[in-house]
Amino acid sequence: KRGLKAVGPNMTTCHPSYGRTDLLVNCCPPGFQSPVPFVDFQFPDPQSPLRIRRPTHAIDADFLAKYNKALTIMKSLPHDDPRSFSRQANLHCLFCTGAYDQQNYNAPVSIHRTWLFFPWHRMMIYFHERIIGSLIGDETFALPYWAWDIPEGMVMPDMYTNKSSSFFHTQRDASHLPPNTADLNYVSDTNISREDQLDINLSFMYNQMVSGARKTELFMGCKYKAGTEGYCDGPGTIELAPHNALHTWVGSSLNPGREDMGKFYSAARDPIFYAHHSNIDRLWEVWREFNKHQLDITDPDWLESFFFFYDENLRLVRVKVSDVLDIIKLGYSYEQVHRPWLNKRP
Ligand code: C2O
Repeated sequence: KRGLKAVGPNMTTCHPSYGRTDLLVNCCPPGFQSPVPFVDFQFPDPQSPLRIRRPTHAIDADFLAKYNKALTIMKSLPHDDPRSFSRQANLHCLFCTGAYDQQNYNAPVSIHRTWLFFPWHRMMIYFHERIIGSLIGDETFALPYWAWDIPEGMVMPDMYTNKSSSFFHTQRDASHLPPNTADLNYVSDTNISREDQLDINLSFMYNQMVSGARKTELFMGCKYKAGTEGYCDGPGTIELAPHNALHTWVGSSLNPGREDMGKFYSAARDPIFYAHHSNIDRLWEVWREFNKHQLDITDPDWLESFFFFYDENLRLVRVKVSDVLDIIKLGYSYEQVHRPWLNKRP
């Protein structure tokens, strides 16, 4: 593997990091500063049922009750259990604020604004989904996705606004609760009518998915390689918006960084994060399918980049980007929704 410049964390170097420029945070796992045994990723049993991720606006009461129960259990696990909700949330903090150094290099690992954005988040919610399912003994459990790219989903999903559920979260912008229409390219509040906003959103989706994403790097983000010289800053179309824009839109205007969703160190503390990222993950598949996989990255530095996650059996797993490129092999898929933005060519 001479000359390989794949990125991966050195798990023995966790250190406090900056959640905002003015805020030092420590998201490191408790008592986790020495080499830990890990196993290499293996695909789930192909005989096990496919987990079908469905849009939040189309799930039923039974599913909600099941997910609510599982999330309640997850939130009650102690912080030293890597399956606990607080540790799951901290995973995002660790990798997005540079809490780990790269293996063999004196440079931090980062997973935003580069080509690691889609695969890292796919890994994170893959393990999260399986942990949730295992907490209620349901191997069909699938995360719902927040389909903000279609009109039915251009609002904060109702399930997250029910105060008596485990999906509720206080640190959100109160003026963006339903029926406020989401602005997929949100910067600040406007007075645009719902009808116009929907139209603007659909044209914007066309741009981010199609006309503005005809080259690999435009959609996937820049080529981030190992080492101090390897860093780049070039988010893909969807990462920049709606992804970043909706993080900001959901987070509370009363907090300096619009926490929780508005800053990466705190974003995954809000249960809506996981539905937001299911949709990001789905749109990656949609883009690949449109392009008949011809724009897929083949650079070994990307394919061999790797991360570590705890699985539902509390094993630390090393997983490479090349492990997460076939969602059927990963045991899940997406229920399709219509794609009205496809006809929104300006
Ligand atoms: Cu790591 Cu939605 O961000």
